[in-house]
Amino acid sequence: MSFCFNFDVSATTNTDDVQRNASLTDKIDSVAKSVTESGSPAEAVKEAKEHFPPSDPRCLLDDTIYETLTIGTLPPLHFLNETVFEKTVYEREDAENILSRTAEQRSDLISGVYEGGLKVWECTYDLLEVIEREGQTFGGKAVLDLGCGAGLLGILSLKRGAKEVHFQDYNSTVLEQLTVSNVILNCQVDDSDDDDDGQGSPDKEEECKIKPKHSKKDLLLPRCRFFSGDWRTFLVLVSSQDPPLKYDIIMTSETIYNTAYYPALHDTFHKLLAPHGHIYLATKSHYFGVGGGLHLFETFVAERGVFAVNHLWDSEIGLQRHVVVLRFKKESH
Ligand SMILES: C[S@@+](CC[C@H](N)C(=O)[O-])C[C@H]1O[C@@H](n2cnc3c(N)ncnc32)[C@H](O)[C@@H]1O
Repeated sequence: MSFCFNFDVSATTNTDDVQRNASLTDKIDSVAKSVTESGSPAEAVKEAKEHFPPSDPRCLLDDTIYETLTIGTLPPLHFLNETVFEKTVYEREDAENILSRTAEQRSDLISGVYEGGLKVWECTYDLLEVIEREGQTFGGKAVLDLGCGAGLLGILSLKRGAKEVHFQDYNSTVLEQLTVSNVILNCQVDDSDDDDDGQGSPDKEEECKIKPKHSKKDLLLPRCRFFSGDWRTFLVLVSSQDPPLKYDIIMTSETIYNTAYYPALHDTFHKLLAPHGHIYLATKSHYFGVGGGLHLFETFVAERGVFAVNHLWDSEIGLQRHVVVLRFKKESH
């Protein structure tokens, strides 16, 4: 798929609009409100719900082609190649109809309909590099992969010993067909590798075999939960759990492209981060055609006064990309 934000531009904000106003927060709140009132496509309205992996996950991995990503000392991460979806678009169940729509419109993102989760975006790779460099281990942590798409960040934290990992994506199709599949794929491929007797790669049947005992699947999947829906209703859903959920680490990549979503995103960070937790955010400086980006988000965060932002990495060449960490200011837990 080509990289293009196929937005209804009139329904989104741009840098100039926002900067003309004295208060960015007011502007963004009012954008979010007017978006709601006009019912424009930028409105995120998908009701949150929890998804449960199928009892026989083998079917998810039929005819799949996967890639393996290896970064330094990080455990290898396996994920379905995005061409799988392009090739099988009309054979797959897709109640949201996003597979055919994205194929027909040749778009990576249809605001309020499909938020881009079917491919791995480049800032995910940046964040993985930073995690490797920082030596973040995740042992015993409760982790949220927010706007997870393929879920590589959450899968890494699982493999590095997270106590539990919740995956959230706007689209249920993404969660059911890609995120859950990738978690299962990682169990199975790793299991196959462990069992490899040096006679070459196991055939596909072997790879997909669900091992009843001692499988890594048994170690990974029970530590996962999967949620679809927009951030507002996701926040309501997880806040109503007893006891309410809090995460030690929230990871999010390429999720600040649309300023209309900033209030919901910030509230989600604020309500769901544990007092001494931190948020890894990987992003581009600016998202052309949409208007969001790091500068606008940092200004928004500064106006809210809840989090301090520190830069962990800034790219020096090409389109500027960044990895930042957010922590509560001392007085605002
Ligand atoms: C561009 S994709 C990035 C996917 C993935 N993090 C990556 O880096 O490959 C943006 C993700 O943010 C999530 N997202 C964006 N806006 C959202 C909203 N308003 N509510 C819930 N999720 C949203 C979508 O789930 C989508 O997967």
